[in-house]
Amino acid sequence: MNNFEEIFEQIKKIIEGEFERDKKLLEICRVLKERVKHYDWVGFYLVDEEKENELFLGPYAGEPTEHVRIPFGKGICGQAAEGKEAFVVQDVSKETNYLSCSPEVKSEIVVPIMKEGKILGELDIDSHSLAPFTDGDREFLENICRLISEKLL
Ligand code: SME
Repeated sequence: MNNFEEIFEQIKKIIEGEFERDKKLLEICRVLKERVKHYDWVGFYLVDEEKENELFLGPYAGEPTEHVRIPFGKGICGQAAEGKEAFVVQDVSKETNYLSCSPEVKSEIVVPIMKEGKILGELDIDSHSLAPFTDGDREFLENICRLISEKLL
């Protein structure tokens, strides 16, 4: 059983704390990766303000990835940026428009961070488990992204 409410409170405290923005985002990644068993890579992609239709890798927790820039429409992250809503892929082997980071990854969830209808970035989570994401995960992560939009970005 995941204690999403307790973790959400911990994340609220990080956001209200005194660190600078990227340090807060990094702490959020670390907490999510450490406290939720099926979250194996947790990172933020942010929209490049100059290029607009491209994401760049922000703070993350987990193995380094070669995908440091992702155009809108490409991969699960790029598709979520265009769709502007959470994108859950329970089995990445069934997704043709997918950018692989590691052969260990079996599933992925991407949640956009929106402000006034515009996408600012997204929270991306990879899992080494097959089909681990529930509606509870989705709501939990959407709540975190809403808070980040209101208070941090
Ligand atoms: N798998 C993602 C690329 C980013 S990594 O998961 C860190 C995608 O298909 O967009």
